[in-house]
Amino acid sequence: MQDFFSGLSQYFMRSDVSGKNIRENTLIQVADLTMEYEQEGNVLRVLDNMNFSMQRGETVAIVGPSGSGKTTLLQLLAALEQPSNGHIKVDDHTLRDMSRDQLADFRRDNMGIVFQSFHLIDSLTALANAALPLDIAGVPDALKRAQDMLERVGLGHRIHHYPRQLSGGEQQRVAIARALVHQPRLILADEPTGNLDDKTGKLVADMLFDLHAQTHSTLVLVTHDMRLAERCERSFHLQSGQLQVG
Ligand SMILES: Nc1ncnc2c1ncn2[C@@H]1O[C@H](COP(=O)(O)OP(=O)(O)OP(=O)(O)O)[C@@H](O)[C@H]1O
Ligand SMILES: [Mg+2]
Repeated sequence: MQDFFSGLSQYFMRSDVSGKNIRENTLIQVADLTMEYEQEGNVLRVLDNMNFSMQRGETVAIVGPSGSGKTTLLQLLAALEQPSNGHIKVDDHTLRDMSRDQLADFRRDNMGIVFQSFHLIDSLTALANAALPLDIAGVPDALKRAQDMLERVGLGHRIHHYPRQLSGGEQQRVAIARALVHQPRLILADEPTGNLDDKTGKLVADMLFDLHAQTHSTLVLVTHDMRLAERCERSFHLQSGQLQVG
């Protein structure tokens, strides 16, 4: 009997070790995630009790019709919004348990976010916008690295322009340079090629995937572009508040 139990405990030990490996490879864990907006007394449930995880170093596309909640989901993953219910863990951090300051530090150190509406700072040049994550972190060669990144997105000739002096696609590329300049472990990109012509879109997509390959970052892309989605290892389809994981 004793042997039986010690054998069993060994079995569980092994299963625990392999379980640990699975856990160690998991970067994002989402449990019972629900997001509702209330407007004029009506409750709009955009995300309905979602559960999924994402592994370190994987590329995931989030696709779905307009209004299906893709941006909402990305903003929750970046902890820019708080869910109505459920929780999100990134590494061992449960986002809802972190203070505003802890979240700001966590984003600065780990995340690169490309917003659908760019969110560039109007009073800063393209160069200063792109250098921002490095400046905040006190990196000495921030401007040089930002300039390199802007050159990679084809904006070397526009670095001293302010956002209002840039086209939509140029602003989007500054936003991408800013999101990637500090080589984050987790890149959350909302329609990163949405405003770009085919050639520039491909250049930007190649850059995202090159950087992913170089740094083994986890790449989460919201896109309507099926060709871009197909370049990702997995696609999550959002519809009616539900997620179909492919
Ligand atoms: N702050 C808010 N208050 C009320 N409703 C909101 C709010 N933000 C988003 N919504 C609603 O939630 C739904 C999902 O919005 P979301 O921006 O996540 O969609 P999306 O999938 O990103 O769409 P698109 O492809 O057009 O960018 C929409 O119907 C939108 O009207
Ligand atoms: Mg959106």
